[in-house]
Amino acid sequence: MSKITAAITAVNGYVPDYVLDNKELETMIDTTDEWITTRTGIKERRILKGEGQGSSVMGAEAVKGLCKKAGISPEEIDLLICCTVTADHIFPATANIITDKVGAINAFGFDLNAACSGFIYGLTTGSKYIESGSHKKVVVVGVDKMSSIIDYEDRTTCIIFGDGCGAVLLEPNEEGLGVQDSILKSDGSGAQFLAQKAGGSAFPPTHATIDAKEHYARQDGKTVFKFAVTKMADVSAEIMEKNNLSSDDVAWLVPHQANKRIIDATAKRMGVSDDKVMLNIQKFGNTTSGTIPLCLWEWENQLKKGDNIIIAAFGGGFTWGSIYLKWAYNS
Ligand code: UT7
Repeated sequence: MSKITAAITAVNGYVPDYVLDNKELETMIDTTDEWITTRTGIKERRILKGEGQGSSVMGAEAVKGLCKKAGISPEEIDLLICCTVTADHIFPATANIITDKVGAINAFGFDLNAACSGFIYGLTTGSKYIESGSHKKVVVVGVDKMSSIIDYEDRTTCIIFGDGCGAVLLEPNEEGLGVQDSILKSDGSGAQFLAQKAGGSAFPPTHATIDAKEHYARQDGKTVFKFAVTKMADVSAEIMEKNNLSSDDVAWLVPHQANKRIIDATAKRMGVSDDKVMLNIQKFGNTTSGTIPLCLWEWENQLKKGDNIIIAAFGGGFTWGSIYLKWAYNS
């Protein structure tokens, strides 16, 4: 019997309608469109507005559309992994809320928190359930409503982040397509450089934590940037070397969209030209767990069966890693 691999067989995305562009940010904080564009590559980001609207709203929309595209009923989903740092609640898991909203009544689900590396952790985890033969239809959702944890008076974070969601369906493949390899890493000594300090069990929310604005995401941008540039490039080169891939073998690089300068450094290290790099940071900013599936969704029509794809991410934790994937279908 041939080995079962986990292939992405459908992809979908969802972004909210509201566009927060650099011009509007200029009216909110001391910044300029020129500064944001040259330092990050970002022009605009999407924001989910409305009371009680959590990440599950975007997740459910993406998964409903995903099932439609794949021609499956939500009842066929066995497992739904929701990668997020902005869960609707501390508990229950947002995965449970999404499965309920879409009618995935036969799925079990859990949330996975690896910050900006969430989707690559989730894709690797989901693949294992397929490869083992225990599950046939696994949905991996990458979603974040970053606007819920951003201080719109902090110009070092509010210019970067946005809201959005992408989702993929994983199914068994016997042609050797899909996830080929992954390298995942973490280093908790970097925890303090990018974090939301309060709201969890160490610092439960109090009037004092709210007054100190500790329920917002904070980052030491320079330090995070330094690590991100090195680690994302290193791990991408490592997975190519491990799988004997030259830059000519790579059809696409799908990088986490945190800063265009980090993406450029990764592509350069891999020897991959700009036309092979998926880049939508200018439209959506950094949607944390959402960036990579949103790229796959936007580029789906250009992807061909057998394309070698390298996915790479770096994020809070620190967490980082890369995945080598063979695309499994023509659109
Ligand atoms: O996705 C998870 C991982 N996250 C990341 O990968 C983010 C990594 N970090 C970054 O992308 C960058 O560090 C930032 C975009 C956050 C900042 O860019 P930078 O080139 O590292 O700027 P900086 O922090 O060194 O600041 C340079 C100057 C400072 O002014 P002085 O001290 O030189 O006078 C800042 O106060 O730019 C100032 N500055 C701003 N000016 C206008 C910082 N933010 C802004 C702003 N508008 N929004």
